Amino acid sequence: MYAIIDVIPTTIGSLLQEHKQISRELELLESFIKERKFPQQEILGFLTNLNSFTLSGHHEKEEQILFRWMLDQNPNADKTIIKKIIDEHIELDGILQGLIKDINHGVSIDSLKFDMLNFMEMYREHIDLEENFIFLIAKGLLAAKGLEFQKVDDTGIHSYRK
Ligand SMILES: [Fe+2]
Ligand SMILES: [Fe+2]
Repeated sequence: MYAIIDVIPTTIGSLLQEHKQISRELELLESFIKERKFPQQEILGFLTNLNSFTLSGHHEKEEQILFRWMLDQNPNADKTIIKKIIDEHIELDGILQGLIKDINHGVSIDSLKFDMLNFMEMYREHIDLEENFIFLIAKGLLAAKGLEFQKVDDTGIHSYRK
């Protein structure tokens, strides 16, 4: 019978791999801004992709699979930090959607650059919080069951953690 525990080791691996991908995308955006290159359509396409695909799937996987499983394991202990992370998802999604809306309404990239840099900084802090706190707790819960997370590489192929 299917059980959520079966997908947790690869879910953690995928989330870590997605963090790398998100960080790379943010770095690319940052390099555009720091080099004062503001290709409006390219940045709009980039932010739209980040919003519609990368982050929506990532946040959903965290909330619907990992956090749900963690709360099932330990309903009270992790509640506060999980709530904080979910609130940050809502806030970060809102900022990103606001940026996309502004660009679509003709606001120049130049005047949005500080908002974009701010978004990147917040997102990086969000990743740090997850990796240094909530994922560690999740790994501990797995270890208590004699399991380890599985690394997932860029191709999405799972390999056992060495
Ligand atoms: Fe997150
Ligand atoms: Fe994340």
